[in-house]
Amino acid sequence: MSAEQEPQVSEVQTSEAQIAVHWREEEYYQPPAAFVAQANAGDPDIFERFAEDHFPECFTEYADLLHWDTGWHTTLDTSNPPFWKWFVGGRLNACYNCVDRHLATSRNKAALIWVPEPEAEATQAVTYQELYRRVNEFAAVLRDFGGLQVGDRVTFHLPMVPELPVAMLACARLGVIHSEVFGGFSGAACGDRLADSGSRILVTMDGYYRNGELVDHKAKADEALQRAASLGQQVDKVLVWRRHPGRYASKLPMVDGRDFFVDDLLPDNRGRLVEPVSMPAEAPLFLMYTSGTTGRPKGCQHSTGGYLAYVAGTSKYYQDIHPEDTYWCAADIGWITGHSYIVYGPLALGTTSVMYEGVPTYPDPGRPWRIAERLGVTIFHTAPTTIRMLRKLGPDEPAKYHYRFKHMTTVGEPIEPEVWRWYHDVVGKNEAVIVDTWWQTENGGFLGSTLPALQPMKPGSCGPGVLGVYPVIYDENGERVPAGSGRAGNICIRNPWPGIFQTVWGQPDRFVQIYYEKYNRNKGSTDWRDWPYFAGDGAVQAADGYFRILGRVDDVINVAGHRLGTKELESASLTVEEIAEAAAVPVMDEVRGRAVEMYVALKPGLTPSEDIARKVTAAIEHEIGKIARPANVWIVPDMPKTRSGKIMRRVIAGISNFTDVGDVSTLANPEIVDDIRHRVQAEKLARGQIPRELTSQEAEEIKAFGHSE
Ligand code: WTA
Repeated sequence: MSAEQEPQVSEVQTSEAQIAVHWREEEYYQPPAAFVAQANAGDPDIFERFAEDHFPECFTEYADLLHWDTGWHTTLDTSNPPFWKWFVGGRLNACYNCVDRHLATSRNKAALIWVPEPEAEATQAVTYQELYRRVNEFAAVLRDFGGLQVGDRVTFHLPMVPELPVAMLACARLGVIHSEVFGGFSGAACGDRLADSGSRILVTMDGYYRNGELVDHKAKADEALQRAASLGQQVDKVLVWRRHPGRYASKLPMVDGRDFFVDDLLPDNRGRLVEPVSMPAEAPLFLMYTSGTTGRPKGCQHSTGGYLAYVAGTSKYYQDIHPEDTYWCAADIGWITGHSYIVYGPLALGTTSVMYEGVPTYPDPGRPWRIAERLGVTIFHTAPTTIRMLRKLGPDEPAKYHYRFKHMTTVGEPIEPEVWRWYHDVVGKNEAVIVDTWWQTENGGFLGSTLPALQPMKPGSCGPGVLGVYPVIYDENGERVPAGSGRAGNICIRNPWPGIFQTVWGQPDRFVQIYYEKYNRNKGSTDWRDWPYFAGDGAVQAADGYFRILGRVDDVINVAGHRLGTKELESASLTVEEIAEAAAVPVMDEVRGRAVEMYVALKPGLTPSEDIARKVTAAIEHEIGKIARPANVWIVPDMPKTRSGKIMRRVIAGISNFTDVGDVSTLANPEIVDDIRHRVQAEKLARGQIPRELTSQEAEEIKAFGHSE
């Protein structure tokens, strides 16, 4: 079947994503000449090398950036769709590629520069030699003390400290699959992931600095283990790094025979070397959990060869990393961005990657620019939520510091054109090129972006598909939505690429169902053209081929670049004794993009109280973490429901955002809508939560909310 044929989707649905989207076409910005002159991808010939008729062989250009112990015989194996296999027959070790192979030329170059949050504490440069030592010693601990073997899983609950990349690379060295849980997630959330991945070992830290405070992080470990045990997963050992070696920062006692300080174990392993295990290209390298439509988080399983090749290639061409750059991605390694573009991509290329422990605005919004100035950062990478915050709190700060960026990235959410322009003019001082990179935890690396020296920037649009990736927009009927039509639809990727995740850990059926079933043309086909990847984002494509990403089409709320599933928020609320029903909706938020509002109904006979609302907030923080803290919890007498009993999230989302709630006449209880609207909106106005007017695009998002159920 040719790539041009349209998929057959039998079930016809009406789609709110089909609506016309109107916005002002933004002007192009050209990359500065100084950037173009030095760019890794400066020759337009590259488009030809990655043209569709060279797929999949074009990706050998990425794989060739790595050292392979054994070459591959098949670039792309599609025999068991959609479980694609890349570089089959090839063997390599990811740690060797990120560390060992750089020793010959760059032994004493900084691999990582770690900036602690307290400004008085010295910056730590970890050279490639030092990283090699530390990784080997910790690999020896994991193997000989932890008893870990090839294919075992180990969970980390680590903050932004160099011990995190050390632990990741140590696992990679052993062929052990790491699963890092974002440090800001709660103990319970960590426990769920420990259990799902079947980890017998948890690696954590006693404390870390955040907003000037030494947070007691070890306290979460007990909770995590309890939760894991309740789910049937026994954890044997907890390895605890100390933020200040020798000085325990947690109030919770160490558990005898279970908890061990890593700094106590390391002296016995001083100088030990562990041979990197040569792994098949398709062996899993790590799991990264993410939220989706249902409650249970999905462990996205990433491969060794395809993933590493993809992040190395995109780091080279899209991040324009040269070995002599000082590259700072201010994401957290607890998210996919940090895995791909703080650790694996930059280190595979042998560059210097900066890590910062704390909050960007601590102790003041000049902090990032002081770090950039002091370290001579040339490439800067962050998310719109951080840009908005820095713009709000310190709009004139960048001008006070003498750093010079050649390249900047934005990732994780749509960026408003005016925020983009501040980033470009003020942070980038009109000298830096910007890439707006669209992708997802599932994808390993970028999917949509401009190639910085060769394609002009357009504020608010990520750009076209990246090299070797062919996006397309389909409507609900599987019809292609043409570029320039002004219509939105579901963005899909027509072809596999090496960074695509291999499966949802332990749930292969969900993997197929969530990402491939919707637009699959023929289940029996082993032709990749029949298996478009469904990304779950709405998008519009302009006539020039650039995509503007509108946000999730499933019930995921993107808060400050973090994906929160409505079901997760709702089931956390339902752990509160008094709650009978719960619904989570997004509200527009100036800094975080979206924030969460919870609507809850109480069990019969109970009286609403502040105390119950507080319990809901506490339950969400306990089950997920502080990042999920709702902006408001509204206790309502009943939820607006359809006759079949389904909660109409779009109606309450409309109330929360002061937008039109649409037709409510078919509800089982239409009278409740005015009642809730009156209470909630009066209270919001009283609290000074005056809504700003939504753009037509945002209003459509609210109207479509809950649609995927
Ligand atoms: C959104 C983060 C607009 C999108 C790498 C996607 C974006 C979700 C962009 C994935 C962007 C990510 N422009 N929206 N440049 N990048 N998104 O899994 O909705 O944490 O589906 O991966 O973030 O979030 P995730």
